[in-house]
Amino acid sequence: NPVKPPELDKCGVAKNLNTKGTPLKDNCCPPISESIIDYQLPPVFQMKMRPSAHRVSPEYIFKYNMAIDRMKRLPKDDPRSFMQQANIHCAYCNGAYDQPGQGTLDLQVHNSWLFFPFHRWYLYFYERILGKLIGDPTFALPFWNWDNPKGMTIPPMFLDSTSALYDEKRDPASTKPNAVVDLGLTKSTDPLQVVTNNLTVMYTEMIRGNSTTYDFMGKPYREGTSDTDTNTGPGAPERGSHTSVHMWVGDPRQPSGEDLGNFYSAGRDPLFYCHHGNVDRMWTLWQYFLPSNKVPDKRITDPDFLNAAFLFYDENAQLVRVTVKDCLDNLRMGYDYQRIDLPWLDYRP
Ligand code: C2O
Repeated sequence: NPVKPPELDKCGVAKNLNTKGTPLKDNCCPPISESIIDYQLPPVFQMKMRPSAHRVSPEYIFKYNMAIDRMKRLPKDDPRSFMQQANIHCAYCNGAYDQPGQGTLDLQVHNSWLFFPFHRWYLYFYERILGKLIGDPTFALPFWNWDNPKGMTIPPMFLDSTSALYDEKRDPASTKPNAVVDLGLTKSTDPLQVVTNNLTVMYTEMIRGNSTTYDFMGKPYREGTSDTDTNTGPGAPERGSHTSVHMWVGDPRQPSGEDLGNFYSAGRDPLFYCHHGNVDRMWTLWQYFLPSNKVPDKRITDPDFLNAAFLFYDENAQLVRVTVKDCLDNLRMGYDYQRIDLPWLDYRP
């Protein structure tokens, strides 16, 4: 059976997975709501265009900053507030929820085929909340274009310490101007070598390493699957570039790699949503733009995948139930990605 959405009223203590599961002091459970609506994708009147974070205009940065600032000023118990949004990640990833009807078995949205769909929905509502807060329903999140040499540094707007986009819990080595993101965690100090290796990592994750859909998407995770089950596991991008970016930005001066380097705190850095914009873009590219000679049919038709469901609060603070099958096409969800060339296509190792 597909994994069921969590029961918010049974949300419990979350665990720090970086310290072998010691209980976290902070509660990351969302407000409870009695009314849950099955979410219907609204008709798309105008496509939102998510821009590359390294190419946005000063006007865009101003708007984005204002939106995040307003999110930070919402009352603490508003499910759309900045911390409540960050806590979504903690609750779904750090064992605060048990799978309904499965005893104390944790619900986990990483390390499986749930990874891409869950994060897509998470960003979808985050983006709509931001748009609502600035009265601009066309507002689109930026993506951190770390797969392109021109985007391999932290996007500058996140480094301005006076901005709502700033977070001080980041590795100082990675926030130096021109520090090149290390997608293979090579620890090499030669920036050119890191760039070349990054392109090779991308080629491998997007093309060479995938003989089946599951190699890319991650393996099945159904009702009753435990996150230690060896039959499940992450897809190549989740395991590779995605995790590397988390590790590369997380702050080694903090006890557990906060913020980006730990599930429970990752959403507290505004850069998280920009990073995941690119992760999500990789899914779209893989589905619709890459040569499909190796994996001719990229769809997963298993009902346990299609009918897996999550809960989110939408931009009106209404609790909604969403399913994986409704998030398989980003155009139907009303957003697209700015076209940027893909230099890694030529980096066959
Ligand atoms: Cu839910 Cu990048 O992790």
